[in-house]
Amino acid sequence: MTKWNSTLYDDKHKFVSQFGKDLISILDPQEGEHILDVGCGTGDLANELSKAGAIVTGFDSSAAMIETAKRKYPHICFQLQDGEEDRYLSQFHAVFSNAAIHWMKNQRQVVQNCYNALLPKGRFIAELGGANNVESILLALEEASKTLSIPYEKSLLPWVFPTKEEMTAHLTEAGFHVWKMSHFYRPTRLSGEEGIYNWLNMFSTSFFKHLTSEERNRLFRECERLLRSKLYKENGWVADYWRLRFVAQKLT
Ligand code: BEZ
Repeated sequence: MTKWNSTLYDDKHKFVSQFGKDLISILDPQEGEHILDVGCGTGDLANELSKAGAIVTGFDSSAAMIETAKRKYPHICFQLQDGEEDRYLSQFHAVFSNAAIHWMKNQRQVVQNCYNALLPKGRFIAELGGANNVESILLALEEASKTLSIPYEKSLLPWVFPTKEEMTAHLTEAGFHVWKMSHFYRPTRLSGEEGIYNWLNMFSTSFFKHLTSEERNRLFRECERLLRSKLYKENGWVADYWRLRFVAQKLT
């Protein structure tokens, strides 16, 4: 289970919700629509949806994220919940999700739950890490673990980055019509000289929780060293993000 630091997330990883604003324009939320935000984090995008007049429910599996979201946006309904839990039945006009579904391992189930949550004609607009996402970072983690004799089991990583074909199959099997599916490279700037170190600390600490903080520090510094020639550009660190973005609809 990933333990999130919601303050570090808001402070150093604001770009996550900034990219999400672009996704909101595709969703085009309408006044009075009921919208479910899957993996809402600290609630910034749920708040944007709410500003457009939508009635938003956001959920996240991290208690820290939900606590922060409730504090920041007390007018929105936030719930502590896992995306793999089937909880909502035919009650939303749209389901929205930004940078969250790759944290959910059983994506087939997640997609089915989103389908179940929608009203007929409801739309499902999402973006997540797609195939090849953060490949250089994953390779560096593997190599640094080997160098430092730290056990590393790739299959235990908390993320699944699907291909277009895999996600299209999940959506179609659930009953969706897929209007749009794109897979694209989005090099993503990480803030500051400590950009990659902060990223590793924020997102992969739970995977290495069996290590002491000193061992983790050595591992992340070794990754930083390995990645510098590839991901450090003129103005700082740039992560090799690949995104999968889709627009799907429940037809009946
Ligand atoms: C992503 O948004 O692609 C991502 C974020 C954290 C860990 C892995 C991937």
